[in-house]
Amino acid sequence: MRIDIITVLPELIKSPFEASILKRAIEAGLVGVHFHNLRDYTTDNYKTVDDTQFGGGAGMVMMIEPIDKCISKLKKEREYDEVIYMTPDGQTLNQGLANQLSMKGNMIILCGHYKGVDQRVRDHFITKEISIGDYVLSGGELGAAVLCDAVIRLIPGVLGDETSALTDSFQDGLLAPPIYTRPREYDGWKVPDILLSGHFPKIEKWREEQAHANTKIRRPDLLKD
Ligand code: ADE
Repeated sequence: MRIDIITVLPELIKSPFEASILKRAIEAGLVGVHFHNLRDYTTDNYKTVDDTQFGGGAGMVMMIEPIDKCISKLKKEREYDEVIYMTPDGQTLNQGLANQLSMKGNMIILCGHYKGVDQRVRDHFITKEISIGDYVLSGGELGAAVLCDAVIRLIPGVLGDETSALTDSFQDGLLAPPIYTRPREYDGWKVPDILLSGHFPKIEKWREEQAHANTKIRRPDLLKD
């Protein structure tokens, strides 16, 4: 997979890719992540990327021309499966969408700023609009980092133990069961006996029951269908 991120603030989004699992995935060649500063695609001395709204109103709008230049240059170099725009009015990211995107080849992610982008960008270049939740961020960069993390960890080979993504919360529509590690007892607080029993079918059944109970209490909406 290759991800091209278009941003006016590359310094805001680079660091999550320089640590831990994402860094390892990049170093292992399982994903390539490339950053493109939108100001490099401007033509004026001030490297302007935004302008006032037609019709009046507060807030600047990102102009179509630098975005067109950047996306068109990338599209000349390779084919893309998706051109994603990060925006609070997009489709809300969930595990199902992350799963779908983890199977794609090349993706462009455009990070919005100010009031957003000129509508013609959305109408003519964007194939998917994604929000990371019902709140407004100062820009799409942190949303893009969240999206990339959720997607990249699902690419086969990225997580050491292939099964560990399969037992994540949400992966089977349920929250995860409780987990424990050593010591067996801490300050009088004990690990449930069943987990120490060595009886794996019973442990599996207990985990399923706990996952259901957890989901029923915390997120009953997930059980509705
Ligand atoms: N840009 C601003 N707010 C956002 C959000 N909630 N999700 C994705 N991109 C955004």
